Amino acid sequence: MIEIKNLKVLFKTFAMPFEDYNFKKNRVTFVKGRNGSGKTTLLKSLANLIEYEGVINIDGEVTYNSQEAVLFNRSVYENIIYPIKIRNLDISQYTKTIDYYCKVLDISHLLTNNAHKISSGEKMKVSIVRSIIFNPDIVLLDEPTTHLDLESIDELTILIKKLKDKITFVIVSHNQKFIDDLLDEEYHLGGNYVFSKINR
Ligand SMILES: Nc1ncnc2c1ncn2[C@@H]1O[C@H](COP(=O)(O)OP(=O)(O)O)[C@@H](O)[C@H]1O
Ligand SMILES: [Mg+2]
Repeated sequence: MIEIKNLKVLFKTFAMPFEDYNFKKNRVTFVKGRNGSGKTTLLKSLANLIEYEGVINIDGEVTYNSQEAVLFNRSVYENIIYPIKIRNLDISQYTKTIDYYCKVLDISHLLTNNAHKISSGEKMKVSIVRSIIFNPDIVLLDEPTTHLDLESIDELTILIKKLKDKITFVIVSHNQKFIDDLLDEEYHLGGNYVFSKINR
């Protein structure tokens, strides 16, 4: 589903190499490692959001859900339908799914609110719905649980369990219960930087 081979991200003063790995289809893989070990860097490389060296083979469409939700200064609903709109898909086909996702994550009452004026946890849930709404093949979730209360984490767990038959998830989280409830595979990062090898 996702194959990484000789992957390396070059920053100004150091290089960050990643061990070869195959992320399996329809499995939930957790990327583990300490702060600064390269989890976000890996996810951004998989989403093609940063430059890298080496090979990333991806079979399907990917969305990256960032550590801090970035929403437009519009209503929650406008944010959620954005991926549908830009793909020129028929929004009416997605009404039921939007209702369902919003109900599971308990954000239905926020649809007409301005997305900048809701809480951090609520923003994360909106952002997650936006990243799954158009049925991508692979969803990368970068620390989705950070701002969520325990009940919301359980709700997100339920949603991911429902979706994993059609979506492959790669997730970073430090919430042990969330990990225990969902983990199929794990990929560990040791933060094996190679310093001062690059002159740029
Ligand atoms: N654009 C960048 N330029 C230089 N260093 C960076 C950049 N992005 C991340 N880093 C560094 O790379 C390391 C890994 O960062 P990151 O992938 O965000 O870690 P994690 O998500 O595991 O906490 C950190 O030491 C971070 O400071
Ligand atoms: Mg990170």
